Amino acid sequence: MGNGIYYKTADEIELMRKSAQLVSKTLGAIAEIIGPGITPLQIDKIAETVIRDNGGTPSFLGYHDYPNTLCVSVNQTVVHGIPTSKAFHEGDIVSVDCGAILNGFHGDHAYTFAIGEIKPEAKKLLQVTFECLYFGIDKALAGNRIGDISAAIQHHAEKNGFGVVRELVGHGLGTELHEDPQVPNYGRKGYGPKIYDGLVIAIEPMINMGTRNIKQSSDGWTITTADNKPSAHFEHDVAVVNGRPDILSTFSYVEEALRKKGAWMPSLNVSV
Ligand code: MF3
Ligand code: CO
Repeated sequence: MGNGIYYKTADEIELMRKSAQLVSKTLGAIAEIIGPGITPLQIDKIAETVIRDNGGTPSFLGYHDYPNTLCVSVNQTVVHGIPTSKAFHEGDIVSVDCGAILNGFHGDHAYTFAIGEIKPEAKKLLQVTFECLYFGIDKALAGNRIGDISAAIQHHAEKNGFGVVRELVGHGLGTELHEDPQVPNYGRKGYGPKIYDGLVIAIEPMINMGTRNIKQSSDGWTITTADNKPSAHFEHDVAVVNGRPDILSTFSYVEEALRKKGAWMPSLNVSV
């Protein structure tokens, strides 16, 4: 693994920033309306409209025959939840994962929303998973190895008693939705492909409240926790520029919308 990595030029990274930001705006539009009584299919429709109105195309729709624009993964669903007409309820946690292709490059970015008031242990899961994402990003430095990112994520999750999903991983991103290298959320410092300028990866910790084990549902997509306890997922697109991580996506649209609604959200430097 690793010899298939396609490093991006500065111009390509600027195009990828546009793709990532289109997904960020899409998640922001979802943040404005998501809540009790709203359905996954409603937000899926909004996402497709925002992406197409801005000249993009949904990345997931039709990818290996995936049927929708979003993956909407509620509570014990880890990732790849196919949108349904079953409304969200107060207390749910909902991972919304969205991809868009614009100018030939993909953006791929996810946020886990709290629906109304959620339990303290669910807040802790969201907060720790959010921190895992940023601790991983901090290690995306030229000269480091992918295992440095992986180990930072795993350490923080397990220190907090949570399970790290192993079967699904982050990935390189570019003209393909999934490129080399794989970016596992568990691993060892100093191992894996070396990081150089021009690397663009999607870092996406999937962290379970209980066991790390998962089940695949009979629809061929939906991944749930083996113990049916909740799972959280945050994803950013990160380029390595001048040796340092440059986060191409942003949660600022989501956070502005959630702040206006007075909704709880995870944040850095705040303990739950
Ligand atoms: N963010 C997910 C991933 O990177 C999205 C893939 S969903 C699919 O794997 F439908 F496109 F497969
Ligand atoms: Co991804």
